[in-house]
This record gives sequence, structure tokens and C-alpha cells, in this order.
Amino acid sequence: MTAAIIPTIDHVDALASEYADKYPSEIIELALNQAGEIAISFSGAEDVVLIDMAYRLRKPFRVFSLDTGRLHPETYQFLEKVREFYQIDIEVCFPDASSVQDLVTTKGMFSFFKDGHQECCGIRKVQPLRKKLATLDGWITGQRKDQSPNTRTDIPVIQADAGFSGPNKQLIKYNPLANWSSADVWNYIRMMEIPYNPLHERGFISIGCEPCTRPVLPNQHEREGRWWWEEATQKECGLHLGNLKK
Ligand code: ADX
Ligand code: SF4
Repeated sequence: MTAAIIPTIDHVDALASEYADKYPSEIIELALNQAGEIAISFSGAEDVVLIDMAYRLRKPFRVFSLDTGRLHPETYQFLEKVREFYQIDIEVCFPDASSVQDLVTTKGMFSFFKDGHQECCGIRKVQPLRKKLATLDGWITGQRKDQSPNTRTDIPVIQADAGFSGPNKQLIKYNPLANWSSADVWNYIRMMEIPYNPLHERGFISIGCEPCTRPVLPNQHEREGRWWWEEATQKECGLHLGNLKK
């Protein structure tokens, strides 16, 4: 069994190398053994694998989801299904009401098609995430290298989170699925017979908010279904801003 650790900034790179080729649940176990508050960041898509792996470790774990107010009905239903299936609480984070109100009052419900997605994502996703992460010492994400050839090819399995660490606190970000492919994830989902978002049966691979996600055609990359009206190198909403090349 992995011993409890408190990774320091110097320690993180060494751990990233040591764990680079480990099975994802070993990385989740490492994360759950970290001292302090750690939580899985669950989008309501194929990252359900993280919850299943944590559940099988038989250790206490926390899960949070960012409810942007614009998710598909199927995703809300799936969040509920997962909550019941694993008998877990899902800590749902909401955006600041007055910020959303100002945005939609002045720019309407679909400003992102004209102005780009950053402003709306900033209000509906990044601010609530920042607030949540301020209460945590580490977070576990479902990011993978193969999800975005333009922005995610270099993500390590564990990293110091440059984007969300505070002046007095180093936040650790665990990406246990970084080296898994989409096929690995789906083999796991089928083999373990775990619930999945029914949108995946309708051509959706990557799933975000309803207006900004669409199914992809055969052989189209999954990222092409997200913010398809925008430049591929900028397809991060700010949750994983550190992935964008300067
Ligand atoms: S995004 O930044 O483009 O929206 P993506 O959909 O690829 O992210 O998901 C990658 C990981 O980011 C997820 O596995 C999850 O850990 C986190 N994430 C994305 N969206 C959410 C959300 N709404 N709530 C919680 N975590 C999320
Ligand atoms: Fe807004 Fe679209 Fe970003 Fe969702 S993905 S927060 S709807 S811009």
C-alpha cells in the first residue's frame, strides 16, 4: 500500500516520473493518500472512470461538479445516476448568480458564439472552480493527452497547479488518465459495466455544455465537437488553462 504523503513542489516532478507508467487507480490512491482535502472533479462524462476506481479503493473520497446551468438534461440525469449508483454525495458548484445575470442581460443567452467562449466559461466554470479549489489541497481530473492534440499532449499524471495555487498554498493536480487513450477508458467502462452518459450513444465523445458541444463524425477528433466555431489551439475553457501555450 502507498504511504501517506504531502507532496511539496520539489517532490511533484519526481512523483510524476515515478507514477508516469502506473495504472490510473494507483495514481488515484496516491492522491487520496495526500494529506489535506482532495476531490475528484467530475464533468458527468467518461471521467466516471475516476469515481469507479476511487470507489474500488475503499477509501473515503470527495467528488465535485461544476453546474454551469447549461449542461444537457442527459448529463444532469447522469450525475444523479452516479450519485445513486455509488451512494456518494456530489458537491455541486454553481456560478455567481449576479455575474450570470449581468452577462445574459447585457449580451444574451448565446454571447459565446459571437464573443468567444472565454467570458461565459469564466463566469460559469472558472470562477466556481476557483472558489472550490480554494478549499482544497489537491484535485483529481479526467484530462487525457489524447483529448486535445493542441493543448493536452504534455500533461503529466501529477503536477503543481500553476493556475489555481494560492500565495500560501500549493495545489496539486492529479491526472490519473493522462496516458490512457479513449479506447482504454471505454474498455474499462464496458469491462466493469459501469454507468455512462447516454449522450455517448448518440455520437458525443467529449461532453461539455449543451450549446457548445456537438457530436462528431466518424474519424473527426473528439475536440472538434467542442467550441467548433473557434481556433483549435485555444480550446480550453480555463479549467485547465495551464495547458495553453503562451
Ligand atoms: S474542458 O475544460 O474542456 O471542459 P473536459 O470536458 O475535456 O474539460 O474534461 C476534462 C476534465 O476536466 C474532466 O474529466 C473533469 O475532471 C474536469 N471538468 C470538466 N468539466 C467539468 C465540470 N463541469 N465539472 C467538474 N469537472 C469538470
Ligand atoms: Fe458558457 Fe459554453 Fe463555456 Fe458552457 S461551454 S460555460 S455555455 S461558453
